Amino acid sequence: MSRVYNFSAGPGALPEMVLKKAASELFEYGNAGMSVMEMSHRSKEYIAIITETEERLRRLMNIPDSYHLLFLQGGASLQFAMIPMNLMTNNKKCDIINTGAWTQKAVVEAKKFGKVNIAASSEDRTFAYIPAFERLALDPDADYVHLCYNNTIYGTKYTGLPGTGDVPIIADMSSCILSEQYNVKDYGLIFAGAQKNIGPAGLTIVIIRKDLMKRVPENLPSMLDYRIHAENGSMFNTPPTYGIYMAKLIFEWLEELGGIVEMEKINRHKASLIYDFLDESMMYRGNVDREYRSLMNVTFTTSSPELDAKFIKDAEKSGLVTLAGHKTAGGMRASIYNAMPVEGVEKLVEFMKDFEVKNR
Ligand SMILES: Cc1ncc(COP(=O)(O)O)c(C=O)c1O
Repeated sequence: MSRVYNFSAGPGALPEMVLKKAASELFEYGNAGMSVMEMSHRSKEYIAIITETEERLRRLMNIPDSYHLLFLQGGASLQFAMIPMNLMTNNKKCDIINTGAWTQKAVVEAKKFGKVNIAASSEDRTFAYIPAFERLALDPDADYVHLCYNNTIYGTKYTGLPGTGDVPIIADMSSCILSEQYNVKDYGLIFAGAQKNIGPAGLTIVIIRKDLMKRVPENLPSMLDYRIHAENGSMFNTPPTYGIYMAKLIFEWLEELGGIVEMEKINRHKASLIYDFLDESMMYRGNVDREYRSLMNVTFTTSSPELDAKFIKDAEKSGLVTLAGHKTAGGMRASIYNAMPVEGVEKLVEFMKDFEVKNR
């Protein structure tokens, strides 16, 4: 059996080395006499795993002590509700920059808890760009500004952050965390579902500035309360133990590779292989304005929906799978997360060239 190159937007490909290591430890972890899946989350072996996972992510992202790092469940989608419930509590209003489905979902949830100001939107051109910062209608009294740093569906990415003064920035980094360097101190809160650059689905990472905990109201259901999760070291209830263990292996792999500095270089190289070809091709067209092109999700089309469908089918026959764009966007999307090797991207570009010659 041979493995394919999986361009899925998430759950996405995982590094082969990590899968092999997990397989080798699946039946018995160290001298524990059992699998990690069977372990009590309070056992000394498991405490060592979660502690190491946290230490590694703190090192990789340079997360200061003034931030909590939480391992939660409920996906990034639960954060669309937890963020306003916990933090939209001073003036009961927030700003959201709308760059597509993931911020639209955040708007729907936040509206249940207060007033939402859409500070800007790129909907007029099907979310093909990030709104210019100087045109943002930011409210200085907002409790926070919410943005999605990398839009997985449309393939856009921020290249910097708007100035928001004392208003904290909350960033959805589900599809870009660990792909390039970020300065955690620029954010009040960063959240990410694991199933792209961190590990299997089921784990959600939240990095939150400690002083924001003062805003958390007293009466929240315990499982929705950041303070309770922080006070209990992400062990208020049973955490997603195996997902956290897999994250540890991914973080180990990343550190051995040279950390995010090296990963970012590789990611820029991979993305440029596709974008450079898109720019010279007569048949394909990238969907996004150049300056906002995502490093992780490359969206493009051919000259017709029929040819797009043929592209996706033929690519699959060549072992290049899950290249269809999101159902709301159409066309193609190559998700080239950290685990996608350079060879996978080279194979894709080779296939694209060949397909163009044959279908011109
Ligand atoms: C940017 C972004 N935010 C949020 C989500 C929702 O994540 P989840 O399915 O973990 O709730 C996704 C899912 O792909 C995403 O790409």
